[in-house]
Amino acid sequence: MRSAHRPIVVSNRLPYVIQRDGERYQALPGSGGLIAALLPVLRGMGGAWIGWSGMAGEDPGVQQALDEAGDGLFSMHAIALSQEEVDQFYHGFANEIIWPLFHDLASLCNFVPAYWQSYLQVNRRYARAVADQAGGESFVWVHDYQLMHVGAELRRLGHTGPVAYFLHIPFPSIDLFLQLPWRRAIVRALADYDLLGFQTLRDRRNFLQCLQALIPEAAVSGRGQVVDVRIGERRLRVGHFPIGIDYAGVAGAAASEPVAERVRELHKLLPDRTLILGIDRLDYTKGIPLRLHAFRNALERYPELRAKVTLIQVVVPSREPIPSYHDLRLQIEQIIGRINGEFTAPGNWVPIHYVFRSLDHLDLSAYYRAAGIALVTPLKDGMNLVAKEYCAASIEEDCVLILSEFAGAAAQLRGGALLVNPYDIEGMADAIVRAVRMERPERLRRMRKMRRDTQRRDVFWWVDSFLKAAELPVAPNGIGNGSASTSVLGDQRAGGAF
Ligand code: UDP
Ligand code: G6P
Repeated sequence: MRSAHRPIVVSNRLPYVIQRDGERYQALPGSGGLIAALLPVLRGMGGAWIGWSGMAGEDPGVQQALDEAGDGLFSMHAIALSQEEVDQFYHGFANEIIWPLFHDLASLCNFVPAYWQSYLQVNRRYARAVADQAGGESFVWVHDYQLMHVGAELRRLGHTGPVAYFLHIPFPSIDLFLQLPWRRAIVRALADYDLLGFQTLRDRRNFLQCLQALIPEAAVSGRGQVVDVRIGERRLRVGHFPIGIDYAGVAGAAASEPVAERVRELHKLLPDRTLILGIDRLDYTKGIPLRLHAFRNALERYPELRAKVTLIQVVVPSREPIPSYHDLRLQIEQIIGRINGEFTAPGNWVPIHYVFRSLDHLDLSAYYRAAGIALVTPLKDGMNLVAKEYCAASIEEDCVLILSEFAGAAAQLRGGALLVNPYDIEGMADAIVRAVRMERPERLRRMRKMRRDTQRRDVFWWVDSFLKAAELPVAPNGIGNGSASTSVLGDQRAGGAF
């Protein structure tokens, strides 16, 4: 333990997914923006990370596998979920209710009452695990939509230290939020935190509107990045903190010789053409089918692009037991099959190269660096770290980001990216051709601007500004003393994202 204010970080996922094959346990790196963001933070701060290993059932081997997988910079503590909880809490409440609703896709919600009970039960278990790890005064930082009730449950267990919460996904508008059968309980639970963080100003505004509609005595005051809320005697702070990436780590990895070698190989395999890149978890929020239709539309309306562009679409497997995810995979594969069937010139050109798996870090960096255009077109996204990682990894700066106006990242990158409406197939096709035709000086100017901003507001800036807003007493290791110059993460900044 590094100090009295050693943070306890709580999220549904630990950074490793544990799989068991007979007597053998395998720790695989987890995927998704939350892990990518928190891993360098925990490595820098030390402390403890409480979360689920991804395996159903109680298994003492899981904790041992985690202990062996870790790098010793922070500790990991596994929460066990039964198969029924995996189905009802994780797949059910978190990913068939909150996830689609908060991404403005209410028609995909499945409001099953039993899911709510399971969610409460699991949140209570997390709170008990936190109480076991934390001293009564420890700073607890809870993450994301699966665990909104952990703070309230922790209070019931007598925890008196500061408890903060960050929502990595969007917070919906009031019309959508009010559809939630458990809307009042959820807003009350969120109001039990001392500090609430959202990705964008719009998310914060949406939350405050719901809070005031459901708890009329809540009084909001102040302005700027963080505002004050009073509910009777209680005070909480609510802010927006756009999450960043480990810029130095991503850029450093992209500049390495093995990555440069892999980039040369890619260009040799696919010579004389612009590589267009899409990298997404398998998720209906990512707008993959509409993006593919846009790519097809561009090939049809602008024949000059044929054999001159190749789309590399990487889809990382995710949540496949949920029918809408499983169906999405089939839909994507069908569309890609149709486009390749229609346009492939045997021996000369295949329009779409499709990769359905997790990439290792070398390939991920190489794809980022090799791509002349990145297509990041979610229908809605809390932030979208792929957009920022693409900028950081583009060390030659001679490339173009096409970005959905509904990604949280658009608020920051709008000056450099080509912004598109991800529902507008022809608009996206036009953006693709504009990116292909763009002159080098414009490409450089736009990418430089985005890289500067991504570098300035990186993940360490994010954690510093969040902890500063938490108003923690200053601790010997600097936690609670967040500022760009006296970083809580100090010397860990250049420490390799990948
Ligand atoms: N990523 C990964 N494995 C891969 C490809 C990507 O872990 O094979 C990472 C990627 O580097 C990024 C994260 O997954 O950090 C995706 O974050 P994003 O915010 O774009 O979307 P999310 O998956 O969180 O919805
Ligand atoms: C997004 C969410 C995370 C989640 C991740 C991967 O980044 O904000 O909370 O962990 O997706 O999804 P999964 O369901 O595999 O945890």
